[in-house]
Amino acid sequence: MPEAPEMTDTLDTLPLLPVAPLPLKDQARLLAIFFGDRLQMLLRFAESGGELSRFRFASRYVVLANAPGVVGEALLEREADYRKGPALSVYSRPLLGNGLLTSEGGFHRKQRRLSAPAFAHRQIVGYAKPMAEAAERLQEPWTTGQTLDVSREMMRLTLGIVGTTLFGVGNLEDDADTLGRSLTTVMQYFLKVIQSPVRLFSATIPPWEVRAKASLGHLDATIYRLIADRRREPRNAGDLLSVLLLAQDTEDGETATMTDQQVRDEVMTLFLAGHETTSNALTWTWYLLAKHPLIYAKVQAEVDEVLGGRTPTYDDLSRLPVTLQVLKESLRLYPPVYAIVRQATTDTQLGGKRIPARAIVLVSPYLLHRRPETFPEPDRFLPERWTAPFEKSLPRHAYLPFGGGPRICIGAAFALMEGHLLLATLAQRITFRLPHTGYEATPEPLITLRPRGGLPLVVTRRTATV
Ligand code: HEM
Repeated sequence: MPEAPEMTDTLDTLPLLPVAPLPLKDQARLLAIFFGDRLQMLLRFAESGGELSRFRFASRYVVLANAPGVVGEALLEREADYRKGPALSVYSRPLLGNGLLTSEGGFHRKQRRLSAPAFAHRQIVGYAKPMAEAAERLQEPWTTGQTLDVSREMMRLTLGIVGTTLFGVGNLEDDADTLGRSLTTVMQYFLKVIQSPVRLFSATIPPWEVRAKASLGHLDATIYRLIADRRREPRNAGDLLSVLLLAQDTEDGETATMTDQQVRDEVMTLFLAGHETTSNALTWTWYLLAKHPLIYAKVQAEVDEVLGGRTPTYDDLSRLPVTLQVLKESLRLYPPVYAIVRQATTDTQLGGKRIPARAIVLVSPYLLHRRPETFPEPDRFLPERWTAPFEKSLPRHAYLPFGGGPRICIGAAFALMEGHLLLATLAQRITFRLPHTGYEATPEPLITLRPRGGLPLVVTRRTATV
């Protein structure tokens, strides 16, 4: 990375990025695309080439940081000059409150310290068993020849798993389905809001918003009840809720614990962040495997040899390297978090260019992961590229499915373990095929990247290993 000039009184003398030549009608189109297809918008931004490009977007100064060096500056070295993007902090507050995804500054740092024990290695290894068992239960009723919406199935699976890991096995039995439905209704509400510019400026409350508010009320009531139950009998039941309730922070000289409201916000955040992303990562992986039967066969040969029909455990994972390579390559081609958005809180700089306060800085794992300088033949699905020397040779911030800097995904190790286990469990039992030759899934960039209209795949049961 080129040495960036010191950020003192030189800032005023730094050049602003030139605005990419974009005629007015194209700016209007970009705005329409923003509410329709954000991936197209990013690809359009990237066309101007270079590690930084700047656009006017409505009245905002928007910068795309599109090379590892400038990405590192924005997410790590100068991260104190930014806050999260406006969409996340404004629209998701009613659902997520002031949890890890949305909070800022010192409060965020304290919450991150308090939540860290919940994601310690020792803690998450305990979740391997319920994860693999949930995948075994999911596939039991599937029959050969059946077409499934794999996207829906993966969402059900990861929602169930996050519910179990948050609240403990058996504590959610009566509530799991209704909680899942309420969360889905609230998420659909957010999708509608971000897709509907009209709603942003209209005072009329549509029926879907009324439904979403009722669902949010139900989610809140259930979570507060689970917190109250656990407060009455404090114990470490091995679930995330126990760890959050028992967490203590003494960093600032006095012992801090979380209030019920903070625990509620963190639980809701983990509930949401912990299933939608993992589910989409798995869905894209099945799509890629169905498109590449030879690679699918390699994964199945590996799981057959190592597991021989058994349900995988945490200890098996180190002997399933091909399955992990497939997951990493899928996260490269279809990173569920396809864009990371920041907003400058002060005048700052990137790559030696001046970035004025309030500017939006976009970092797109989707674009960065398709740079031919870092990933030769970037559009091809080549899991075998993920060798240890290749990973070591990767520049920092070149591959960032989990983000970077102090706001890097707290659930990254959890998600990789979960994805690895679920792929191994299901690949051993099931072969998924495309619904017809030449079938192509189209990425739909909503809150996360998912296949438009779901992913219909045809099931073949693998009787030999069952
Ligand atoms: C494949 C699955 C996952 C992907 C691709 C993913 C991706 C990401 C990314 C890119 C960020 C950073 C966003 C930013 O900087 O603006 C993030 C943050 C976060 N993720 Fe994940 N995530 C995944 C799974 C999970 C899981 C399983 C959990 C919890 C159980 C989780 C909880 C969180 C939380 C709480 C944050 C906010 C962290 C902070 O700001 O301190 N994620 N995730």
